[in-house]
Parts: sequence; structure tokens; C-alpha cells
Amino acid sequence: MQYIKKKLKIENIYVENIAKKYSTPTYCYSYKLLKENINRFKRNFKSFSPLICFSVKSNNNLSLLREIKKFGFGADVVSIGELMIALKAGINPKKIVFSGVGKTPEEIKHAINKKILLINAESKSEIKEIDKIAKSVNKKVQIGVRLNPDTNAKTLNQISTGKKDDKFGVNKKTLIDIINFCNNSENLKLKCLSVHIGSQILDYKPYEKMLAVLNKILNESKHKFDFIDLGGGMGISYDKKSKKLDYKKYNNAIKKFLKKHKSKIIFEPGRSIVGNIGFLVSKVIYIKKSEKKDFIILDTAMNDLMRPALYGAEHKILPSIKSNQKSVKIYEFVGPICESTDKFSVIKNYQILKEKDLIIICDVGAYGMSLSSNYNLRPKPIELLIKGSKIKVIKKRQKVKDLL
Ligand code: LLP
Repeated sequence: MQYIKKKLKIENIYVENIAKKYSTPTYCYSYKLLKENINRFKRNFKSFSPLICFSVKSNNNLSLLREIKKFGFGADVVSIGELMIALKAGINPKKIVFSGVGKTPEEIKHAINKKILLINAESKSEIKEIDKIAKSVNKKVQIGVRLNPDTNAKTLNQISTGKKDDKFGVNKKTLIDIINFCNNSENLKLKCLSVHIGSQILDYKPYEKMLAVLNKILNESKHKFDFIDLGGGMGISYDKKSKKLDYKKYNNAIKKFLKKHKSKIIFEPGRSIVGNIGFLVSKVIYIKKSEKKDFIILDTAMNDLMRPALYGAEHKILPSIKSNQKSVKIYEFVGPICESTDKFSVIKNYQILKEKDLIIICDVGAYGMSLSSNYNLRPKPIELLIKGSKIKVIKKRQKVKDLL
């Protein structure tokens, strides 16, 4: 993304032209950035060639999944819907892992039928349910068990998953119990130990700690796991000041771990693959002046992009045409929804905006569209994939009449 003669372009397309042709709000994804992220991710860990299962919850657009699949990726899914869309995208079932604390019997049956690589279970009850279903269909099923390593990922509380009070995974005692249960089952093969300590992690140290916990537990349990699934969570820079995850250090820690435990590593990245590839183009509907600040009322809202309202997340907001005239008033960028949390950002010294101007909310490729809703009965935005000078509609804009 760059300004050419003060006008913003995504790859070779002016944002203005996107809005003219497809209206707003519009989600755009850059193929070039997707490809760069995928190749960088692979390069970072190439010495042990992990199985990389893209976390479908971060973005479930079918066309994007098809593109991601072409790079040899598998999928990490958490519902029957995600499993079905991953299969529809052509992802090999032998590269699909199914995570989540509350898989229903229907979901388990479907996963067994489709012969996916692993069902990563999160409780003893779930293991018993998988065993029962596997027995009833007379199949041997490969499973994983998710460990809660009680590691503080030092990320936002709402997206931390690896502390002992979080609902995810099982503790060491239950893990040992599960290993014994699986050893006595004719229908379960316990192949994988999985962990995922949280999302938007920018410090490699929690990962190091997580590996140390795994190391200790593997030594004690004496069970041979063919796969170690380290989850995802690698953070991205939403602003220039933020620190960057040191992939080299994370990679080195894994290499050290693998010297003692010869297993295939699985990753489940979402945000690090698609986060920065997405842009939400929106129009200023009104500017409402108040004493202390001006409200920039956009045609996009928290239903299209939940992250600011849900986690206080900050996303850069860029004007589609740059100017040097700064506003003396503070700008508060808000949506039209009837909630005070329908607010994207409060910015000082922003360039002066007018009604009908276009703005672009950045880094919305992960947990943007996938977390969107029809709240206030608002139709969901169109999604576009931009490849150089080409634009492909990869999901149509919902129509109000579809919602009635
Ligand atoms: N594996 C498991 C088991 C997960 O729960 C998650 C994310 C991932 C992989 C992918 O994590 P990633 O690489 O994308 O960080 N909606 C929040 C993030 C929630 C993450 C949930 N689990 C946000 O917008 O920040």
C-alpha cells in the first residue's frame, strides 16, 4: 500500500476507484502481502519443515482459503462449518486439525468420517465421547490432547488462553490420566500433544516457557507423540512503535526442543498470515462537531470490525487522499451503531477530513470479516482480492433483503 501523488493505492489500484466501483464499506485483501507472509512464515521455520495449518477462524473466505491451500497449507478448524469450508477449499483432510473445547457429537462424527489428521481434544469427557463414537463406527481415530501449560502469554487478557484459569486444555494430571485411557482404548490413537497460549504474542519468552513445560511433561509422561502442535498466536505490528516477535529466537527454541523430542511440529497461525493483508475502505457520512472533538461518522461500524469495541484494539486509519492541513480538533472515528463502543479511534492532529471522504482502516485481514455480524440488521460488506491491477470479488455484499 502506498501513496502515489497523494492518492492511496492497494497494489496497483487506487482506493478511490475501488469505492467508485464497489461502493463502501469494503474489505480488500492484497494477494502480494498474503504471498509474502506465507513465504516468510515458511522461511522462518524451514529447518524442521512444520505442517502449517492456517487458522480458519481468523479469516474464512473460501477464495482466500483456496489461495492459502496452494502454498501447501493445511487448516486448523473449530466447528463443522470451518471444517466444511476448509474441505471445500480443497485442503487435504490429512492436513486438518480440529480444535475447540466444545465439539458436539455431530462435529466429531463428521471429522471421523472425513478422516482428518487430528481431533485435538480438550477434556476427558470429550475423549470419552470420541472413543464412544469411534467404537460405534468401528474406526481407529487419531487424536491430540491440548495441554494447558499455565503460561502467561503477556497479551490482552481477552485473548490469552494458556493460563490455568482459562477454559482451554487440560492440566498435567488429567493429561497423564488421558494417556492411560487412550493406551487402553482400541479406537483411539493418541498422536499429538497440542498447546496454544494466546494470540497477538510479540514476546518470544512465553513461547520458550511453553516449550520448557512441554519438555518436562514429555519426559515425565514417557508417551511418544508423533506430532507436537504449538498452535498459533504470532503477533503483528498494528502500529509502528510496537515490538516485533523474534522468530529467530522462537525457531531456535523449537530446534533445541526437537533435539530431545523427535516429533513433527504443527503450527496454527492465523493473524500472522492474513492480519496485515486486509483493508477496510469506508466513507465519511457526516462530521458532527462537538465542543471538544469532531465525530467522524463512518459508513462502517463495529458489526463489520469488532476488534476495537471488543478488545480496545487500535487499527491505523489512513485517508485515501493525503493533505497537509491538520485539524485543530480531536477526531473521534465512530460508526452509526447505537452503542458507545462503536468507536474505532480517537486521533489528534489528523488531517482535515470532509464529508464523503474515504478512509482506510488497516490490518483487518484477521478477525475482521470473520468476527463481523448483522447487528442493527446491517448487511455485511463485500470482500475483494487485489492482485496487481486485478480485482476479484471474493464475497458479494449482503443485501438488506437477504436479511429480511
Ligand atoms: N489455534 C488455536 C487453538 C486458537 O485458539 C487460535 C486463536 C489460533 C490457533 C490462531 O491464533 P493466531 O495465530 O491468529 O493468533 N479475535 C481475537 C483473537 C482470538 C484468537 C482465538 N484463537 C482478535 O481479534 O485479536
